[in-house]
Amino acid sequence: MQNVVRSFVDDARTILAHGPTDDALAQLMARMRLLIRHPTVLEDHEAFLARSATDGSTLYADVGRKSEVLYTDETGLTLVRSRFFPDQATPVHSHGTWGVLGVYAGQDLHQSYVRRDSGSGAGTAELELIEESVLAAGDVALIPRPPQDIHQQQGYGGEPAFELVVFGKNAMVIPRLIFDVAAKTAREVIPGQG
Ligand SMILES: [Fe+2]
Repeated sequence: MQNVVRSFVDDARTILAHGPTDDALAQLMARMRLLIRHPTVLEDHEAFLARSATDGSTLYADVGRKSEVLYTDETGLTLVRSRFFPDQATPVHSHGTWGVLGVYAGQDLHQSYVRRDSGSGAGTAELELIEESVLAAGDVALIPRPPQDIHQQQGYGGEPAFELVVFGKNAMVIPRLIFDVAAKTAREVIPGQG
């Protein structure tokens, strides 16, 4: 798995040489499409299942998901594997960074929101749901650059969804926002403490 991750990271660095432009993120989506179909990723799945079934200290647990960091470095580039549960959605949230996700097993009920007010931080936040889709294994999706990196995820069809996500920053440790869509508010939390 390490070689597969290293190869992906090397390609991601090349793609992002001039920053996370629209074109670079589109290329990264194509590269993610290859990663989630790689036989080694699928072979490593059973080992992750065993790890994510316990509260192992290497896992980041949040409402509706458990994640592990597969790669991160001083530039912030980070690759994460996440398991999204079918019985509980994540809150509507942001990550403080762009991301590209790929589903490699299960299905993900994925909702994308845009922020309609002029803010980017905590406080008043007016959101609009712009897309709801069921992402199946092999599908990829973009988490746009902040402040529009807002979404909600949940395993679909009674099964968990398993994904690889590449972020521009280490989204497992930097503050993010949790939104209350009806109340039109956002609060800042540290991942795992929200
Ligand atoms: Fe997310």
